[in-house]
Amino acid sequence: MIGVFDSGFGGLTILRKFQQLMPEYDYVFLGDNARAPYGSRSFETVYAYTLQAVRRLFSMGCPLVVLACNTASAKALRSIQQNDLPLIDPSNRVLGIIRPTAEVIQSYTRTGHVGVLGTLGTVNSQSYIIEIQKLYPEIRVFQQACPMLAALVENGEIDNPGTDYFVKKYLDLLMAQSPLIDSVILGCTHYPLLINSFRKACPDGVSFIPQNEIVAGSLMDYLRRHPEMDARLSKNSKTYYYTTDNPSVFNNAASLFLGREVSSSHLDW
Ligand code: DGL
Repeated sequence: MIGVFDSGFGGLTILRKFQQLMPEYDYVFLGDNARAPYGSRSFETVYAYTLQAVRRLFSMGCPLVVLACNTASAKALRSIQQNDLPLIDPSNRVLGIIRPTAEVIQSYTRTGHVGVLGTLGTVNSQSYIIEIQKLYPEIRVFQQACPMLAALVENGEIDNPGTDYFVKKYLDLLMAQSPLIDSVILGCTHYPLLINSFRKACPDGVSFIPQNEIVAGSLMDYLRRHPEMDARLSKNSKTYYYTTDNPSVFNNAASLFLGREVSSSHLDW
């Protein structure tokens, strides 16, 4: 199976795209809702939590794990790939979502000024700036941390005036850094759930980059290029959902985000 991990519900926006574009595969989604949000936590904590989840997904039968979380991709991916994976099982793979987004950024901007909205952890890690500038040194990247937003999503505060206020505040702070920004990466997988608020606050001529489509396309490409991994993945069109918190709360929220009923199980570490 393909493991898909997020601190909470946000990764469901990525999983949903995987299910649409690659319906034949089996997935295990793990949301660490009991410890979400991760965004303001230290490097050490995000790394420890993410490694624990990756190990668990491996032991549940997922040789391939996608960190469907920008914060975990920014703070834990590299250490896990370089230090842990060779010791745990060098034939397994852990993929993140920042690099695939950076790879295609050039095709989304005409002005060469790109905005990134993310958690404090993602913004402070500078991962987007580093990855984009490695590939496209001419592109300028502006960032704004949005510490309230993942918590609002985790608590179901979607499409209401309080959430609109914070979305507009963060977007205005980003746009104030450069009037030339024409593309904004919603660099936290929770944020697409607030897309209505983002659209209301968005200045004309600015568009949001669909990270879920980009990441799904990149995974399809990865599986085409790695038939040895593809052969290890079961294909019965099933998804198993796990949460570290209350399954009925997870089911209610997840059904909203996925547009259909799901039945999750509680995961004990
Ligand atoms: N959804 C996650 C991300 O993409 C993290 C949100 C959080 O836990 O703070 O960054």
